[in-house]
Amino acid sequence: MKTKKKYVLACASLVLALSFSAGAESYAWRGFHFDEARHFFGKETVKDYLDHMHRLGLNRFHWHLADDQGWRLDVPGFPELVKYGAARASTPLPGDEQKSDGKPYGPFFYTPEDISEIVLYAAERGIEIVPEIEIPGHCRALLAAHPEFSCAGDLKREPWNVWGVCEDVICAGNEEALAYYERVIDEVMKMFPSVYFHIGGDECPKTRWKACPKCQARIKALKLKDEEALQGWVTTRMVRHIASRGKRAIGWDEVLAGGELPAGTIIQCWRDKKYAAEAAKRGHEVIVSPTEYTYFTLAEGLPGDPYKYRGWTGGEFLPAAKMRLFDPLAGVPTKYHDKVIGGECCLWSEFVHDRKELDYKVLHRLPAFAEAMKNNRY
Ligand code: ACM
Ligand code: ZN
Repeated sequence: MKTKKKYVLACASLVLALSFSAGAESYAWRGFHFDEARHFFGKETVKDYLDHMHRLGLNRFHWHLADDQGWRLDVPGFPELVKYGAARASTPLPGDEQKSDGKPYGPFFYTPEDISEIVLYAAERGIEIVPEIEIPGHCRALLAAHPEFSCAGDLKREPWNVWGVCEDVICAGNEEALAYYERVIDEVMKMFPSVYFHIGGDECPKTRWKACPKCQARIKALKLKDEEALQGWVTTRMVRHIASRGKRAIGWDEVLAGGELPAGTIIQCWRDKKYAAEAAKRGHEVIVSPTEYTYFTLAEGLPGDPYKYRGWTGGEFLPAAKMRLFDPLAGVPTKYHDKVIGGECCLWSEFVHDRKELDYKVLHRLPAFAEAMKNNRY
């Protein structure tokens, strides 16, 4: 065979071999997000789900432990968080959000001993647990313990008992509030060996900040453009704090709106794919979890499904066959593909009331998501 022909053949086989091996490669981040703030499922359910993840090759359990409607972690040194944040007065009725069930819910929370046990259980299965504590929004349960950290300081000492996005957020002009958050984050980071810490950052209404003299004074003192930039400043402060402890912060894609973020901040994109492209272009690593492909909040569309769902942006139904086609690289220019570290499927629990409903909504589709994480390009 002529040398040139041999060379061409060798190159072709190398390209083929590389493309096959790339096809077989998994994403580094193959996550499952689990919200226990809205409904609490407990240790045995979490362990069962870690087993499912292990069987399916998923490797990050993103644990949403605090939100407007509940605080689920007994943090050493901060007993007030579960004292005031782990129970709510009532819960919206399934299927009729405007009405309340009138029943107290909780207190439900994990102790440090529970966490050690679960972290070890996960580690034995090759799964890293990534805790999430939201700042500056979705924190009404923390404000139940410290109403003085809200802008007006006049809140009731109990978590929110309706679904949606609460307008009461942490006062970004209150130094004590931000320093408190840093101390709580320090303690939570000690409970979880993961190098990652999720600071949330999604859906933070700016209503209270606009009316708050302390927040406005902060904007003025720092010469910030507006309230979005104020969130950017809070995010940057928390990201740097977490980095000073040797860990890496992750934020939902809304954190991009506040301007430049420290290098190393990881962005989790749940809205339009343009945010994944933007984050990658700005040099951030990206975890992709678009509502239309990865949210169990969407109905599967099976005949006879007895459960209620909330319509969510992005599409009405999410059958397993669609989830399997989820492509984390979609919409991200090829030159930034290396920034996409993987994907995550998300269980939000406003409309998931018990274990049976949880299993119904998640278990048919989890294998499909796991397949999508194998980076099979079709
Ligand atoms: C989100 O679904 N609000 C991250
Ligand atoms: Zn304020």
